[in-house]
Amino acid sequence: MEADRIKWNERYADDEYQMGLNPSRFLADRIQLLKTLTPGRRALDIACGEGRNSIFLAHHGFQVTAVDISDRGIEKGESRMRSEGVTVDFRGVDLDGYDIDEQYDLIVNLNFLSRELIPREVTALKPGGILLFETILDSPTLAGNHTRHYLLQSGELLQLFNREAGTILEYDEFPQIACPVGRILFQKQGPLLLVT
Ligand SMILES: C[S@@+](CC[C@H](N)C(=O)[O-])C[C@H]1O[C@@H](n2cnc3c(N)ncnc32)[C@H](O)[C@@H]1O
Repeated sequence: MEADRIKWNERYADDEYQMGLNPSRFLADRIQLLKTLTPGRRALDIACGEGRNSIFLAHHGFQVTAVDISDRGIEKGESRMRSEGVTVDFRGVDLDGYDIDEQYDLIVNLNFLSRELIPREVTALKPGGILLFETILDSPTLAGNHTRHYLLQSGELLQLFNREAGTILEYDEFPQIACPVGRILFQKQGPLLLVT
């Protein structure tokens, strides 16, 4: 949506990295496990922002496609990518109604909630592929102004993924921390083995 592009371009306007340079803690803490579990190294970073998670994955040997509506975010990601000598395929994309038309071994969806996109993310995973998902949870400890529609409700993430064919490897909600989140690590059903 054009309004999102304008809003996020304004947030990312100056040279500071608004989301920081470090990757998401959840992603960083799981990276060895992800390298073990993913069938290959093609990764997609959904709503990548300024690219902190994409660049981290590229440093870990993943071939990363990174999509976001903010051209300013993408510009900052590309600039950092060049200075760090890694490659990420950054793409300007509006995820509203977006069809993911390639297949990935790993999809990361961090600090972004589109309920409609989740089934399409699972479809875009290769058999045995992993989806790592974490975003903000509605909770009394949550500070600032947030649009309720973009916040997870308690138990909601589990419900959304229970509909999908695969295994929930990890699920947690942290309602009491300063920035409350819900998170999930999901593995798509692997290839079916024919026993003869
Ligand atoms: C809180 S930031 C998260 C960025 C990144 N995932 C991270 O954790 O650093 C949310 C991102 O969603 C992107 N976004 C919002 N609406 C979008 C849309 N309709 N299509 C694509 N990206 C969108 C914004 O541009 C912004 O970069």
